[in-house]
Amino acid sequence: MVKIHIDDQRLGGVIAPELHSQFIEVLGGCIYDGIWVGEASDIPNIDGLRLDFVEAMKAIAPPVIRWPGGCYADTYHWRNGIGKRSERPVTFNENFGTFELDTNQFGIHEFMELCRLVGAKPWLNVNLLSGSVAEMKEWMEYCNREEDTTLKKEREANGSPEAFHVEYWGIGNEPWAGGGNYTATGYADEYRKYATSAPSFKKSMMDTSACPMHLIVCGPDGNKPEERVAWTKDLFEAFGKYRRPPMYGYDLHFYNWNISHPGDTDIKFDREGWYRVIDGCFELEDVLNEQYALIQEGLAQLPSTEAMERLHPNRCELVVGEWGNWHGSAFMARPALFQQVTMRDAITSALTLDIFHRNCSKVKMACVAQTVNVLNALFLTDGRRFIKTPNYDVFEMYMVHRGARLIEDLCSDEASECKKIHVLASLRDNMMSVNVVNTDYDCPETIELCLPENYRYVSGKVLCASAPDDFNSWEQPDLIRAAPCEAPVMAGSGQFCVNVPAASVSVYQFIKQ
Ligand code: AHR
Repeated sequence: MVKIHIDDQRLGGVIAPELHSQFIEVLGGCIYDGIWVGEASDIPNIDGLRLDFVEAMKAIAPPVIRWPGGCYADTYHWRNGIGKRSERPVTFNENFGTFELDTNQFGIHEFMELCRLVGAKPWLNVNLLSGSVAEMKEWMEYCNREEDTTLKKEREANGSPEAFHVEYWGIGNEPWAGGGNYTATGYADEYRKYATSAPSFKKSMMDTSACPMHLIVCGPDGNKPEERVAWTKDLFEAFGKYRRPPMYGYDLHFYNWNISHPGDTDIKFDREGWYRVIDGCFELEDVLNEQYALIQEGLAQLPSTEAMERLHPNRCELVVGEWGNWHGSAFMARPALFQQVTMRDAITSALTLDIFHRNCSKVKMACVAQTVNVLNALFLTDGRRFIKTPNYDVFEMYMVHRGARLIEDLCSDEASECKKIHVLASLRDNMMSVNVVNTDYDCPETIELCLPENYRYVSGKVLCASAPDDFNSWEQPDLIRAAPCEAPVMAGSGQFCVNVPAASVSVYQFIKQ
């Protein structure tokens, strides 16, 4: 039996709800089929957005959705996606092997409608590679301007008199690779131009009520140990020379690559492959710590004498714009980058969200890649068919942590320490939420959760499968689904014994009396 002590006096930072954000891209079946089916489709839809998707997204209330890419953002011209849908240009989408006509039916208005329906804030990524500063500026004006300008009137004519109030703007995507093969210094110079020309949307110099413009700098490739250190150092060094540009966040991308063993696919793996992929996801925690420290060092070098400082405080939030498992088999898949999601992926999704929770004082936003039909998805579609993967259940179960205070320093009795059990706890008002991830391939475990005496058990849910390589298929769409779990057995006041199945994620809630 593993014994875990949880002390509700040891409160850490607030777990930003934005850590549970989503990423959607015009890639493979993500937008077309996954989200957009068009108003004329016989698939039930609301203004062209598939209803099953909208309803399921509403249930997990994603705080932020990032769009249109990814790499696609650096080929995207936003004007192709406005105006009468039947008159929109048809382009060709080669993004990550998509190789399909792009009808541009899903543009900014459709994206904003999706955000409105599911209650998410938008994060738009601008085209730094094949676009221009002027194109970005006009997109910002089109989205956010309230005054009666020509661009505002155009938005109005296209059906949206109200400004979209887009706060988050990513300037480019992965400039170290598909986004331009830039050097950090070269990108820093480009970034300066884009960031400096972003409008403020203030009504006067002292206006503090305008929609904030949160500009996001491209961080490094989290999967390249040497390059990622050099990128962040060089970038901040470049920003430290002369005047600093405005910046809100720093976007790190990290994928848990599973490409070293070709026989191991999204759905076919053995015990060794199970542990290899699960172990792989922990690297992100080191990367977050490393990058957070480098950002602080970088900020310390920035010039601090200017009035600009008042407008742009000496902060830059670490965000993770893309994360998830990437199995080698996805490269050959049709639609492009389609992956199934087994219990192995659900476990790494839970562990990754817990890495963000545990480091909530360092990381402010994170978007899973991607929401539907691509990589580490929550939903899969094929025409009428729609399934929620077990990743969906993880996001749904973990909603209890949003906005809660992290409880730090959980400790297990030395004698009962178990490397395969991962526990995280948070407190919101009087409600303590505790999740337990059992990464063991085939052994269940009994855990004694030792809370202060005045806590009472409220409810619990468990996500597990009969076999670690189970997944939800078209034939068995609900094979893996979170279900209420057995109530704990009391071992004394505040001592709750729970049984966690092998390869499972459980969440328990306790209320303070
Ligand atoms: O998520 C798929 C791709 O992975 C994105 O377009 C890109 O940003 C990353 O390399």
